[in-house]
Amino acid sequence: KPIVCVVGARPNFMKMAAVLPALGAGAQPVPTLLVHTGQHYDAAMKQAFFEQLSIPEPQVDLGVGSGSHAVQTGLVMQRFEPVLDHYGAAAVLVVGDVNSTIATALVAVKKGIPVIHVEAGLRSQDRSMPEEINRILTDQIADFLFTTERQAEANLKREGIAADKIHFVGNVMIDTLRRLLPQAATVEALAQRFSLPEGVSLAAGGYGLLTLHRPANVDDPQVLAELLQAVCAISHELPLLFPVHPRTLARVQAAGLQGLLESAPQLVTLPPVGYLEMLGLMSRARVVLTDSGGIQEETTALGIPCMTLRENTERPITVSHGTNTLVGRDGDKLRTTFAQIMQNGGKAGRIPELWDGQAAPRIAQQLQQWYHRQG
Ligand code: UD1
Repeated sequence: KPIVCVVGARPNFMKMAAVLPALGAGAQPVPTLLVHTGQHYDAAMKQAFFEQLSIPEPQVDLGVGSGSHAVQTGLVMQRFEPVLDHYGAAAVLVVGDVNSTIATALVAVKKGIPVIHVEAGLRSQDRSMPEEINRILTDQIADFLFTTERQAEANLKREGIAADKIHFVGNVMIDTLRRLLPQAATVEALAQRFSLPEGVSLAAGGYGLLTLHRPANVDDPQVLAELLQAVCAISHELPLLFPVHPRTLARVQAAGLQGLLESAPQLVTLPPVGYLEMLGLMSRARVVLTDSGGIQEETTALGIPCMTLRENTERPITVSHGTNTLVGRDGDKLRTTFAQIMQNGGKAGRIPELWDGQAAPRIAQQLQQWYHRQG
């Protein structure tokens, strides 16, 4: 029976791109079955990633698409159960903290199938964040919990998780980053792909990079307007490239804020970009402004200053060891931190323990031993 590996949304893809081949490699490979829930379905959110990351075409696509949390989670559960019945499963492996993660883990545990959670134990301590609920619940029902930073183990133990289920292995997303950095989009490729306004240069340090999609930042028109005003102001000092997430685009349009964006000629909106384009854009940015989880980690690994537009982070090591500063939505903090980065380059940062490109092989080794012990 295979280990059934699940992906659903964009941030899952770069993690699975490391884990899936590792499970099938070495002297004791294990069979796998890749299931895509279809939570993200646009070519820009899915296809570009599968191709660039060389993830094989999923054997099963549940095609759930968008919807309320309840609808999305419920639909994944209903459609995933027959897949387990049909193919059988030695275990179900989930990554990250999206709705597809908890939905499929919950189906598995109720069928008595072991659950493996990659990127366990991260906590923002903010339960208004949908991902925090997904993290806590997935970890409660997981049998193998693979963590990216040491703080995660303390978080899990506080929630009553037995120590022998927890394995500190490092960060699989950084495995993928290291592997693909040499293929990151070049300045020429990026310039060809996006027509940038006069005066905006893709040369290293010549621009900042902005991403924004958290419901807490984009769903309330007032909050969104204030954030956009703050970044517009920054763009007068440093051009900002802004690949716009579909959720954010919808909210900007609904709130009638396109005019605000257009009023700042150096705030350059782009369609969602693929992984190699994002790596190229991140690695040459003077600063990255984001509310993403993964980008906090990627900028730490790249040594690029990051300003996180959130009040908290589930990835505290990016602040304590890395290049990340939490600025929240406070305009003053945003301006002061930005000024510091412009002046002295920001925090130097260092690479966290075990973010060495070998996290997936560590996971695979343990799972392969376990799998073959079962017979
Ligand atoms: C999801 C994850 C979030 C992750 C983010 C990365 C949950 C609860 N949230 O949020 O943790 O950081 O992905 O992208 O799982 N849409 C499209 N095309 C797509 C997918 C979505 O246009 O391929 C639109 C939907 O119509 C919807 C919006 O984007 O309006 C939100 O999509 P959804 O999957 O609900 O969550 P994300 O905000 O993407």
